[in-house]
Amino acid sequence: MDQKDQKDNNMTLTNRQGHPITNNQNIRTVGDRGPSTLENYHFLEKMSHFDRERIPQRVVHARGAGAHGYFEAYGKVGDEPVSKYTRAKLFQEAGKQTPVFVRFSTVIHGGHSPETFRDPRGFATKFYTEDGNWDLVGNNLKIFFIRDPLKFPDMVHSFRPDPVNNLANPEGMFDFVSNSPEAIHMITFVFSPWGIPANYRQMQGSGVNTYKWVNKDGEAVLVKYHWEPKQGIKNLTQKEADAIQAKNTSHATQDLYEAIERGDYPEWELCVQIMSDDEHAELDFDPLDDTKLWDQEKWPFLPVGKMVLNKNPENYFAEVEQAAFGTGVLVDGLDFSDDKMLQGRTFAYSDTQRYRVGSNYLQLSINAPKTHVATNQRDGQMAYSVDKAPDQNPHVDYEPSSLGGLKEAQPAGKDHEPSYNAKLVRQSIERTNDYKQAGETYRKFEDWERDELISNLVDALKVCQPVIQEKMIEHFTKADADYGQRVKDGLEKAKADMSHTGSAAFREGAEIAEKSGHKTD
Ligand code: HEM
Repeated sequence: MDQKDQKDNNMTLTNRQGHPITNNQNIRTVGDRGPSTLENYHFLEKMSHFDRERIPQRVVHARGAGAHGYFEAYGKVGDEPVSKYTRAKLFQEAGKQTPVFVRFSTVIHGGHSPETFRDPRGFATKFYTEDGNWDLVGNNLKIFFIRDPLKFPDMVHSFRPDPVNNLANPEGMFDFVSNSPEAIHMITFVFSPWGIPANYRQMQGSGVNTYKWVNKDGEAVLVKYHWEPKQGIKNLTQKEADAIQAKNTSHATQDLYEAIERGDYPEWELCVQIMSDDEHAELDFDPLDDTKLWDQEKWPFLPVGKMVLNKNPENYFAEVEQAAFGTGVLVDGLDFSDDKMLQGRTFAYSDTQRYRVGSNYLQLSINAPKTHVATNQRDGQMAYSVDKAPDQNPHVDYEPSSLGGLKEAQPAGKDHEPSYNAKLVRQSIERTNDYKQAGETYRKFEDWERDELISNLVDALKVCQPVIQEKMIEHFTKADADYGQRVKDGLEKAKADMSHTGSAAFREGAEIAEKSGHKTD
C-alpha cells in the first residue's frame, strides 16, 4: 500500500496527539549506536502509557469473561400479569428487548488464575433499560457463606492464599468456617461438584440476596432471582477439573467466546420466587437470610423472560475489565429488602469502582446508561464529558434553580414506604437455623456428588489442625449424622495413610499445632 492509499483508508499510525508516526522501529539516538536523547516524544509517550496499562484488579472476582446480548420479557410472571407485582418497565410487554452485558467470574484468585478452581462463580448482568441501568449481581450458587456484611473482609482474607508465603491455605479457610457455622450450607455446595461448574454456559445464576418488587400502588413483595441455563447444568469432579487444568487454564472463557463466535448463542431463562413482604414467623428460617434456600415446592420458579448472549466484546479491557456492576443499581419498580448483606454490598461496589476504575467510571461506554443522563455531578479525574441535558443552562450545575437548571422527575407510582419501630442494635437474626438446610442439601445430592463432597472435604481438611477438624466434624454431624461420620472416617484414614508415608504437610501442621498449644494426637 502506498502512502496515499494508507491515508485514504485512515490506517496511518499516529500518536495520541494525532501526529503521524513515520518510524515506529527505532528510537532517536546520537549515531546508530546511541546514546538516546530525551526529546523522544513518541517513545516516551508510548512507553509511559504502557507503564500505566494496568489498573487494580477487582479485589474479588478478578478473573472473568464477558459477553453482550439482550433480555426479552414475557410480560407475565408465571400465569399472572407482571404489573401485579412490579412496575419495572423492562418486564411489562411480551417480546420487549433490553440490551444486556454479562460478566462471569471466579471469586478468590487473581486475574489469570485457572478457571477450574473450586470457587463460586460470579454471574453479573447489566440491563441497559429505558429507565437507566439495572445490575443483577449474582453467583451461580443460590446461597452464600455469611449473612452479615461485617464478616466479608475476614471471610475473603481467610479464603485467600497465606499472607506470608502466598501458598494455598485451606487451614485459614476452615479456621474461619469452623467458627462461622452459618457457612456450613454453602461449604456443602462448594465442596461438592457444584463448586466447579464445567463452564459458564452450563451453570445457573442467582441474585442470592432478597430484593423487592414494587407495583404502581407502592405495594411490595419479596423476590429472589434465578437464571436457568437452556444449555443444561454441568459440574465437574475434582479429577475432571485437574485434567482440564493440566492443559488449559482458560477453558471457561474459551468455551464462552468460541460458542458465541460460531453462533451457538447461550440462553438463560430468568425466574423469580415471590414471597409476601413480611417476617414470615411461621418459617424456621428468615427470608432475609442469604444462607437459606427458598423451597421451590412452596415458592415455585416463575419465568419472567429470557436472555441471549450473542456478541463477544471487541476489547477485553475496555468492556470486561472496566465493567462495573453494583447491587445499588436498580430501576423504578425494583427495590432493596432489609437483607443486611444486600445493604452492605451496596456500599462496597461503587466504593471499590471509584478506586479501581476512577471517579468517572460511569462515563465509560460499558457502564453508561443508554438513556437520558443529566446530573449536576462535575469534574474529577478523567471527566470525559459533561452530564448535562441539551437545554440545560450550562451555568447552572446545581438544583433547585429558576435559571434553567435540571428539575426533579415525577414519580412513576406510589413510593413503597416500609415502616420501622425497633431498637438500634448489633445483633444476629433470631432464626439462624444453620444446620437444617445443610443436611437437606447433603441428602438431596446424588451418590456421586456426596462421594465427591466427602473426598474433597477430607483432602482440604487433612492438612488442618485437629482443633479445626473436630469443629468441622461437629458441624457436619449437626447437619446430618452420616455427613459427619463420613468426614470423620475419611480424616482418620487420611491420617493413617499420612503417618504411614510421613507426609510433610501433616508434620508441619502438627508442629504449628503444638507451638500454638493444640495437640495432634
Ligand atoms: C464483585 C464486595 C457479596 C457477587 C465484588 C467486588 C466487591 C464485592 C468489592 C468488586 C467489584 C468491582 O471491583 O467492580 C462484596 C461484599 C459482599 C459481597 C462486601 C458481602 C457483604 C457477594 C454476594 C454475591 C456477590 C453474596 C453473589 C450474589 C459478586 C460478583 C462480583 C462481585 C458476581 C463480580 C462483578 C463483576 O463481574 O464485575 N463484590 N460482595 N458478592 N461480587 Fe460481591
